Amino acid sequence: MSALEDFKTGLETLKKAERYRSLNLADGLDLTSNDYLGMAQEPFLRKCAIQALENGLDIGAAGSRLLRGHTKSHANLEEFAANHFNAPKTLYFSSGFQANYAILMTLPSRHDVILYDSLIHASMRDGIQASKAKGFKFAHNDLNQLEDRLKKHSNSKQLCWICVESLYSMDGDFAPLDNIVELAKDYNFVLIVDEAHSTGIYGPHGKGLSQKLIEKLGHERIITVHTCGKAIGVAGGLICASDFMIQTLINKARPFIYSTAPMPLQAYLVQKSLGFLSGNEGDIRRTKLFELCERAKALFGEAGSQIVPIILGEDAKTLEIAKKLREKGYDIRAIRPPTVPESSARLRLSLSSYLLVEQLNSFADDFKKLT
Ligand SMILES: Cc1ncc(COP(=O)(O)O)c(C=O)c1O
Repeated sequence: MSALEDFKTGLETLKKAERYRSLNLADGLDLTSNDYLGMAQEPFLRKCAIQALENGLDIGAAGSRLLRGHTKSHANLEEFAANHFNAPKTLYFSSGFQANYAILMTLPSRHDVILYDSLIHASMRDGIQASKAKGFKFAHNDLNQLEDRLKKHSNSKQLCWICVESLYSMDGDFAPLDNIVELAKDYNFVLIVDEAHSTGIYGPHGKGLSQKLIEKLGHERIITVHTCGKAIGVAGGLICASDFMIQTLINKARPFIYSTAPMPLQAYLVQKSLGFLSGNEGDIRRTKLFELCERAKALFGEAGSQIVPIILGEDAKTLEIAKKLREKGYDIRAIRPPTVPESSARLRLSLSSYLLVEQLNSFADDFKKLT
């Protein structure tokens, strides 16, 4: 059998295991996207885009940031974001994946260790794999195991990088950030907080769940990543860090150096969206979203965030229920391993501020009839 045949058998194996993935267009009531505050469809952003283009904003950056691809839109966004997120410096990447990957493949040295929560996002996992430092996993949100790992693997000469998400993307629960810092403070640590699903929603005016820690400790030992394609409704990833960390990324991060800069329009719209969401309308949408979170908590339990995992266990059963719910007009998708741990296939119910409580109630009724 030729090596090319392996691709076909690989796909067949996935199909037999109910793990085959395919692309489906959006259809039905959105209970899936990460557009938590409705910004991906926001008329104000649409108007900003049209006006900016009409006023001559370039479409593409046409080069790496270190060459001609660095534009006023990028510089303005990074200055605005530094102010917004209370950070000495920020650096904007085309995606959150690229930002996480760049941090981890670039900053930890071969003498360092990386301790990571078992549920962190694939972008951090892949960055750890590409890093020269050794990585050690601790069980999800398990402070005892984190403490053990710190005692065992960390010493004063090397840096110990700790990787968490402030709000976990598939489980919808929060990291105990204060406790983590309390444990780490006796070590030579740097905490990397992926704020992908918190940005725009939690913390003062949606500035993220690390804000209180940053007010107390500054950014020397805390790096935050704010993805801009979820509640912000645009695309990209902003890294907030000390000046020397950002300068190191600019000088050494291969995903930053050897990649065309994000579209200037994208950077411009992220700035507009951050501004919009820090104002009154942002507060109104957050309040609406939190009301829905409370209702979803009453209906399904879980941590009370906008991400509600409905864990069904088996892949086939999860696929079947998702299919039936889609036939009823709900756009909800089955999430299967390897995205989530084995035997924990689930529906990932994702709430948005524009969803009505009645729609959520109807979904819960229809779901219960199927189980
Ligand atoms: C926790 C987390 N971090 C990072 C990313 C990557 O962000 P982006 O979609 O901007 O590449 C995602 C996206 O799914 C995510 O859920």
